[in-house]
Amino acid sequence: MTIGLLKESGIEKRVALLPDAVATLVKMNVSVLVENNAGKEAFAEDPEYEKTGAKIARKAEIIEGSDLIIKINPPTEDELSKLKPAQCFLCVFNPMMNSTLVKQFAEQNITSFSLDIIPRTSRAQAMDILSSMATVNGYKAVLTAANSLPKFFPMFMTAAGTITPAKVLILGAGVAGLQAVATSRKLGAVVEVFDVRAAVKEEVVGLGAKFVDVEGALDDKAAGGYAVEQTEEYKKRQDAAVQEHAVKSDVVICTAQIPGRKAPLLLKKDTVENMKPGSVIIDLAASSGGNCELTKNGETIVVNGIKIIGNSFFAVDMPSDASKLFGKNVLNFLKLMISPSGDFNLNFGDDIVKGTCVTHQKEIINERVNASINNQ
Ligand code: NAI
Repeated sequence: MTIGLLKESGIEKRVALLPDAVATLVKMNVSVLVENNAGKEAFAEDPEYEKTGAKIARKAEIIEGSDLIIKINPPTEDELSKLKPAQCFLCVFNPMMNSTLVKQFAEQNITSFSLDIIPRTSRAQAMDILSSMATVNGYKAVLTAANSLPKFFPMFMTAAGTITPAKVLILGAGVAGLQAVATSRKLGAVVEVFDVRAAVKEEVVGLGAKFVDVEGALDDKAAGGYAVEQTEEYKKRQDAAVQEHAVKSDVVICTAQIPGRKAPLLLKKDTVENMKPGSVIIDLAASSGGNCELTKNGETIVVNGIKIIGNSFFAVDMPSDASKLFGKNVLNFLKLMISPSGDFNLNFGDDIVKGTCVTHQKEIINERVNASINNQ
């Protein structure tokens, strides 16, 4: 089979496969075409790809000659218009919320895969791009907060006096939140954490942070380990608790999400207005509506001296390691579909392949995506 790697566009600096990942594919008897300068922004130059045995090509050649095309972001309109029927396209396109592209893929008879819907099972962990990118996001969010804060993170005892450690409040202790806890603790901050899932309390405490309990959270067992929408009664209690802790914090990192829904609103306008001037809020949930009422997605604003950074894509600013993790996830996924002789084996008997495929033979074959589109 031939795999084509496309260059990203716009602000994106990552690339879906670095040369190391391409080298593994070549060793698996796969031909790889790489768009010229595909890895440039991630510090991987064309000659490095060529050394692996891949061929550098122009976009048109790649689309013409590939069985499977790989990108991080969805295809541009131009790329989409050039895809050939029965071709496969692998990227991250949020199919639950992007029915237009889903329908377009189906109409054009493209077999599409979206890596953000990979089933979250133990076997799929090594392919989970959401976890990899959340790790980058949680880390970088803390560094950005530390850089924006007019104070130190750690405690210092100096001849000129004692500096008290920064107080960091983290809303949501999933993959990004736990990474934010670990990074904040390494920088010496005092950390408090909220999550509706009591199951994360042990991990939070293990990382040296305090878990703030709010009684009455809905059981999440049926949601496969994810959070669920909470009752109005619980939300009121949580509001009061978040307000009490946020006003004493120097930094709030927002990471709370509910899969397939708008992010929960946890930091209300009046809470922000009562925070200390100079404080910093980083809203990683910005692209799905934000946990903070004042967040503007993709923007940094200052309200009453409080800086609010709405950014869900810090991974873009760490292109080397973000691409490395992303590529390793892609590679692990591709291994499910490549035969020992390097042929394409579209094995829908594998639950991970089936669960990640959105459209095939002009149909939307993914049940979760179908249900979500029918509900819109
Ligand atoms: P996420 O990005 O969907 O949510 C982030 C966090 O926000 C979650 O911990 C959630 O409980 C929390 N949250 C939601 N609503 C909230 C509210 N109202 N107040 C406070 N917190 C709220 O979650 P993420 O990081 O993608 O993963 C969540 C869990 O999924 C993990 O802890 C793990 O158990 C599981 N997981 C499993 C994987 C696998 O098996 N392949 C891979 C990654 C995660």
